[in-house]
Amino acid sequence: MKKLAVLTSGGDAPGMNAAIRAVVRRGIYRGAKVFGVYHGYEGLMNGDLKEMDLGSVGDIIHRGGTILFSARSERFKTEEGQKRAMDQLRSHDIDGLVVIGGDGSYRGAEKLAQKGIPVIGVPGTIDNDVPGTDYSIGFDTAVNTVIEAVDRIRDTATSHERTYVIEVMGRDAGDIALWSGLAGGAESILIPENPSDLQDTVERIQAGYRRGKKHSIIMVAEGAGNAFDVGETIKKETGMETRVTVLGHIQRGGSPTAFDRALASRLGAFAVDLLFEGKTSSMVGLVSNQVRETDLAEVLSQRHKLDLDIYQLSRTLSM
Ligand code: ADP
Ligand code: F6P
Repeated sequence: MKKLAVLTSGGDAPGMNAAIRAVVRRGIYRGAKVFGVYHGYEGLMNGDLKEMDLGSVGDIIHRGGTILFSARSERFKTEEGQKRAMDQLRSHDIDGLVVIGGDGSYRGAEKLAQKGIPVIGVPGTIDNDVPGTDYSIGFDTAVNTVIEAVDRIRDTATSHERTYVIEVMGRDAGDIALWSGLAGGAESILIPENPSDLQDTVERIQAGYRRGKKHSIIMVAEGAGNAFDVGETIKKETGMETRVTVLGHIQRGGSPTAFDRALASRLGAFAVDLLFEGKTSSMVGLVSNQVRETDLAEVLSQRHKLDLDIYQLSRTLSM
């Protein structure tokens, strides 16, 4: 491994910068030159690469977003696009590539690995929907951002005795809704993994009201349905004054938590170590607090599993 490259792809996530820093510094520590690829796969096809030195990743461990920029590229999904990317990697004599992103990015990574470049994936997405790791980089920060908002909304929910429906991101996964609902003390959590819960939510609000509970927080994962429709149904069925907040992209920004910085540092460095060991087509992850490697083929063949025990726990505690 004389020359490595690193790119960020898909939706950005807090902690991606800490992962870039870890890849660059571990790579240089192990005697390689490390190149940053700008704008994800789009930049790779265009040869948008620059060598990074130790100082180039200074002062970024605490910054959200990604200094390498991120992109979603349709062109890269084509055979021609992947061939162009390979040509660029070869012309820059790159021996190994680290791809920081989510499962979509790994589909691209796997294609490159099949064409002969060693590639290791690092899970970076707020959605926490990547099999092979307990947590993806950015998830913890996003959940902390959400509960800060939930706490604020709770103040006004209590003062006005209203029901608040809060929609959070997660694409097809309910993890952000689940963990922020548990940590924020939500009365009910609607997740795509358990789609039939709206009537149950209504009944829980009504039961709470009968016991004297005058306000409720309902978390809705974006994959579980439209928060405004949920709000309308709750208002109609319970007669309670209801408001809806869609948190949106504030969940993607901000300074990464200590957990995400440490996770990104461990996984970024481990990805480089795997390349030095001659590994390819793998993803690094954290499993029971140990860094672990999983074949990309295995990651891509599995569906992410939400922890249903946590879901049941949140139901018990929010009675
Ligand atoms: P994430 O990595 O966060 O899941 P996306 O699903 O948007 O984000 O994927 C990021 C990029 O990965 C896409 O824009 C595309 O360039 C590349 N990609 C996704 N799926 C494939 C595929 N089947 N083949 C090749 N590249 C892909
Ligand atoms: O994958 C991260 C994510 O923020 C999802 O939670 C969300 O569904 C999607 O990206 C939003 O994408 P965009 O930033 O393109 O609107």
